[in-house]
Amino acid sequence: MKTLYILLFTALFLGANDAVHEFAPNQECQKCHEQIYSEYYGSMHANATPQKDPIHNAIWNKQVAMTKTEQYSCGKCHTPGADNLDKMTTPGEKAMFDAQNPTHQEAIGCAYCHRIEKIEEHAQSNTNIISKDKNSYYGSNRSSLDSPYHKIITDENENFKNGNVCVGCHSHNVNKFGLNLCSSNVNSEMNSANCVSCHMPQVEGSFSSIIETKTHSFHGFAGAHFHSEMLSKYVNISILRNIDHFIVNVDNQSSHALLLHPARLALLKISVTRGEETTELEKEVFVRVIGKEGKPSMPWMAEEVIKDTMIQANEKRAVRRDFKLQEGDRVDVVLGWFLVNPKALESLGLKDEKTAKEFKVFKKESFTF
Ligand code: HEC
Ligand code: HEC
Ligand code: HEC
Ligand code: HEC
Ligand code: HEC
Repeated sequence: MKTLYILLFTALFLGANDAVHEFAPNQECQKCHEQIYSEYYGSMHANATPQKDPIHNAIWNKQVAMTKTEQYSCGKCHTPGADNLDKMTTPGEKAMFDAQNPTHQEAIGCAYCHRIEKIEEHAQSNTNIISKDKNSYYGSNRSSLDSPYHKIITDENENFKNGNVCVGCHSHNVNKFGLNLCSSNVNSEMNSANCVSCHMPQVEGSFSSIIETKTHSFHGFAGAHFHSEMLSKYVNISILRNIDHFIVNVDNQSSHALLLHPARLALLKISVTRGEETTELEKEVFVRVIGKEGKPSMPWMAEEVIKDTMIQANEKRAVRRDFKLQEGDRVDVVLGWFLVNPKALESLGLKDEKTAKEFKVFKKESFTF
């Protein structure tokens, strides 16, 4: 009778405490996966929390102030390893972000990503299903050696094989008005490229300190904040000279729009140098502005897209300037972006925040005639 009682008790206890949702801390991976670990620490996945990302913090604070939110529902994607994630995501519960809680600070951790077993599709946003075995990690196709620390499963996880392990969080994020705030356009994959091959390309250096490999998948996650130079080859800039005007073509060869988050604003700067003199021509702006009744608004209040000039997936955008080029003229073109639309800096309290307000150069090109 006593044994039965203990068994029953254990079962209840495990169920209630959600033992599945417990992840090895990132630090535990460091000693064997040194290089991956240090790349990861410089990525937005390690910095996805309000404490570490001032842009996230600004929007989160604004929401708390305006809607008296008591639930950090953002945790579903920003701190998915949180020990109280169920409370963060269950309607009616309360659970705020807690800077003292190490499982919140781990942000999007190593063990979390490597335990994504399946991805469930939902209308509002997808859901990652996490494996039950705390010590097995999914990977793509490594061979031979077993790790002394954990098991490796490489043959039964489709998402790791086809590079789609990202779409549990990145596919779409629809607000209560049915407006898709941010979408990586997963349905239009390019032939041989996928999220992982573009954003985690093979770079030099071993992937563990135990088995030597020449390369490993880059864990700094090239994107709009960091390492965008690794992605510049997917956007081509060319120029076409005509009698009384010229056209700058921006050819986006990636499977999604140039930028995805509605806070962004991209710019194409064009100047012509003739002899000693440089003339700045009109800048071209690429944005997707969301809002309500024709006015920009915060994402949770937005009901419509009020303007969309963003360069789309696989689009070649032609930008015309009525300027007559002469022999010897040089045209300089710079494509880059602000992480936060300069018009929104003031209202978000970000006007002194360097990452939010600086212009990030993505690609520069010069053409001489
Ligand atoms: C004591 C050393 C050690 C520690 C600690 C360690 N690993 Fe590993 N790991 C290895 C070794 C060795 C391999 C390579 C095995 C092989 O060649 O297939 C490996 C392979 C992997 C793979 C390979 C997947 C693939 O594509 O084959 C993943 C994922 C992984 N580890 C994740 C982690 C995570 C996450 C942590 C921390 C929670 C961690 N490891 C901690 C030693 C370690
Ligand atoms: C369905 C998953 C998901 C949820 C839920 C979610 N986010 Fe995000 N968030 C993302 C992804 C993915 C990105 C990266 C998008 C990109 O860079 O294009 C992101 C990026 C952001 C950024 C841009 C950060 C930067 O540094 O540029 C802000 C701000 C942000 N989220 C705020 C929030 C807030 C506030 C909440 C909760 C009210 C929230 N998010 C809920 C997935 C989510
Ligand atoms: C658990 C949810 C989750 C998963 C899984 C995930 N991401 Fe993210 N990702 C995020 C969030 C949230 C952010 C935004 C962090 C921030 O800016 O505060 C982000 C940011 C990024 C960024 C940086 C964007 C920028 O503006 O610089 C890139 C690139 C990225 N993710 C690519 C990937 C790739 C590739 C994968 C798959 C291998 C992946 N992500 C898997 C949630 C996720
Ligand atoms: C063919 C290459 C390619 C593929 C495939 C690709 N991307 Fe990108 N991605 C880019 C380029 C180019 C940019 C823009 C440059 C930058 O942000 O550094 C970008 C930007 C991003 C950003 C930052 C956007 C922002 O507004 O902050 C995120 C997040 C991202 N991609 C996620 C994904 C996810 C998730 C997938 C898979 C569904 C994916 N990408 C597939 C090339 C690619
Ligand atoms: C956003 C999801 C994500 C996060 C976070 C993440 N990884 Fe990975 N990791 C991947 C993907 C996708 C691959 C490529 C598929 C593969 O080869 O296993 C990969 C590959 C690996 C590999 C195999 C080596 C290789 O070159 O392919 C190891 C080892 C690894 N990760 C360890 C880690 C460690 C350690 C951390 C934390 C410091 C970490 N990962 C964080 C998604 C992630």
